[in-house]
Amino acid sequence: MPPQPSSRRTVLKGAALAGVAGLGAAACSTDSKLGHAQTPTPTAPVDLGAADAVPVGGVKLYREQRLVVSCPAEGQYKAFSAQCTHAGCVLDKVEGTEGNCPCHGSRFDCTTGKALKGPATVPLPEVPVRAEGGKLIAGPDA
Ligand code: FES
Repeated sequence: MPPQPSSRRTVLKGAALAGVAGLGAAACSTDSKLGHAQTPTPTAPVDLGAADAVPVGGVKLYREQRLVVSCPAEGQYKAFSAQCTHAGCVLDKVEGTEGNCPCHGSRFDCTTGKALKGPATVPLPEVPVRAEGGKLIAGPDA
């Protein structure tokens, strides 16, 4: 039996709504439900560019890639997700070694991932990272 016209309309309406939700996510990646549903850590290797962009003893925020990388000593790197563990906003800046979440003010130690100030209490997840040929590669195969 062919589908009833009413059920076909329901399907089309659902597809249209999904499209709208997708646009919303693109327009506001820091505070959308879809943005929050993204995995906080990369699912494939991510090229972060020149390793020496991370200052020795300091931290660099890669906002677009949602990562923070610290360099405790020359040639040593640690990376963490830059997605806040409270509600999933991406950190907007790093002051010293402290990362700031613009949404509700959580602060994280970007050298350890530890939550320093709430509302977040869960540390940022660590992400494998390696320097290869002067470039930083973060992600599951790093
Ligand atoms: S999402 Fe970061 S403090 Fe709420």
